[in-house]
Amino acid sequence: MRHEIIEKNIGLMIALIIVAISFGAMVEIVPLFFMQKTTQPVENLKPLTALELEGRDIYIREGCVGCHTQMIRPFRAETERYGPYSVAGESVYDHPHLWGSKRTGPDLARVGQRYSDEWHRAHLYNPRDVVPESNMPSFPWLFNSTLDGNMTAKKMLALRSVGVPFTDAQITTAKEDVRGKREIDALVAYLQQLGTVIKR
Ligand code: HEC
Repeated sequence: MRHEIIEKNIGLMIALIIVAISFGAMVEIVPLFFMQKTTQPVENLKPLTALELEGRDIYIREGCVGCHTQMIRPFRAETERYGPYSVAGESVYDHPHLWGSKRTGPDLARVGQRYSDEWHRAHLYNPRDVVPESNMPSFPWLFNSTLDGNMTAKKMLALRSVGVPFTDAQITTAKEDVRGKREIDALVAYLQQLGTVIKR
């Protein structure tokens, strides 16, 4: 068949483009569903605690993912700055994943335990207080709002249905684990565990 025939027939062109892209996707994506490395949790990976889970939802709500990635790429410049590169097995309990694609601020995949809780609280209250040149927004309202925990157990059940191994005990106590805690404390608890499952 002469290529001219395809170039002059937009319908045929669209059909063949779809075939070509589907084939590419099949070759690139489908094997990942069957590879141990991408489907099995890394050693010692545990589901988040109830408080950390609420912190994660605040991270999503406040749009932190719009400025911060959670994925260290396997390049020297990245691993020297942030620590060991991210592997798929670290993210198997993350629904949705928060790898992100925009780095206005630094990657946070291994920020856990790098700063004290006080540092994080001061930074989130007003980043300029600890990093004078920062252009990160302030999040002062997190200090005034408390969590009621009414939805926490339900969220855990939903996540368990897609394979996150929360225990019955965790789900039973979820509400009391969270109720009355400030949003800032949930967020800091979430940040402090990021990446700690991988040894530096
Ligand atoms: C408009 C972009 C923007 C948004 C939104 C944003 N940040 Fe940042 N963040 C930055 C920038 C820029 C820095 C680097 C300067 C600094 O440390 O303040 C930073 C730094 C940080 C650091 C220190 C990282 C390190 O390794 O030193 C943490 C932790 C952090 N941000 C958490 C958050 C959290 C949590 C949220 C959501 C509540 C958030 N950021 C929202 C831009 C942003």
